[in-house]
Amino acid sequence: MERMQFKHFLQFYDFDREEYEYIFERARWIKQEFKQYRQYWPLADRTLAMIFDKNSTRTRLSFEAGMHQLGGAAIYLSTRDTQLGRGEPVEDAARVISRMVDIIMIRTHEHDIIKRFAENSRVPVINGLTDEYHPCQIMSDIFTFTEYRGDISGKIVAWIGDANNMCNTWLQAAEIFDFKVHVSTPPGYDICPEQIGVMDATHYEVFANPRKAVINADLVTTDVWTSMGFEEETEQRKNDFAEFCVNTEMMALAKKDALFMHCLPAHRGEEVSAEVLEGPQSVVWDEAENRLHTQKALMEYLLLGKLTDK
Ligand code: CP
Ligand code: NVA
Repeated sequence: MERMQFKHFLQFYDFDREEYEYIFERARWIKQEFKQYRQYWPLADRTLAMIFDKNSTRTRLSFEAGMHQLGGAAIYLSTRDTQLGRGEPVEDAARVISRMVDIIMIRTHEHDIIKRFAENSRVPVINGLTDEYHPCQIMSDIFTFTEYRGDISGKIVAWIGDANNMCNTWLQAAEIFDFKVHVSTPPGYDICPEQIGVMDATHYEVFANPRKAVINADLVTTDVWTSMGFEEETEQRKNDFAEFCVNTEMMALAKKDALFMHCLPAHRGEEVSAEVLEGPQSVVWDEAENRLHTQKALMEYLLLGKLTDK
């Protein structure tokens, strides 16, 4: 039997702008239906497996609740208590798990792990965060920006802090949505655009001084100084990132109506001040909620394709 064509969502580059526009349109409709308590069960007989190799609140909840709300079922698997944690090859796990479920989400360490998993999977695989990328989060962030301010094309996004999975994904997204990222990271924590396939330097600019990076920004965003898996560097990073706190003074340098985003969890007093996180420019709670709506649209797209084409 010939296998149906299917796609994975492992990094932001995996979709083009038109696909994101389609997913956003669906997410808007799905969100509106959900808010009206209207049942929508297009994935009634589908099962999602969620494999976690790192902690999570938002990603687990939004995928699990999202799959239930679409009429399907979700199964949580942790590497701590599956055979993956005892050395079963990723390739074998992928071959087995993908025979039993319809779609798989993975949160893990090196991107190579999810790539190998996807290469051996019979069903779509979604990246729920790797050391290198967090595409579901940036999808939600851009959707949230659009809700507040309309099209993100031509806008300036200031990234302040670590050159981590969030930063890398913003850099990929800038090319696809045609906006500019002003990046400011401490010395020694520089971005490596070519390692993440970003060859076009017109969509980002590097600033040594974070205060210069936020000038004229439409969106200021940051993330924890120490990502999961790098905990032994925490104390060193607290020193190295000391000048990279997004506080009220820094926000005042951005555009007057600039938004503030953070994927959460946040450390008040480190990468962001409590005033900014809780302040009028912060949209972090909508940003978190939109994980649910955008990922429901993502799963619908990966499993059912473009509904309007049918
Ligand atoms: N932002 C995000 O992915 O949160 P969790 O780590 O709680 O899933
Ligand atoms: N950069 C953070 C994001 C957490 C959602 C991490 O990888 O830990």
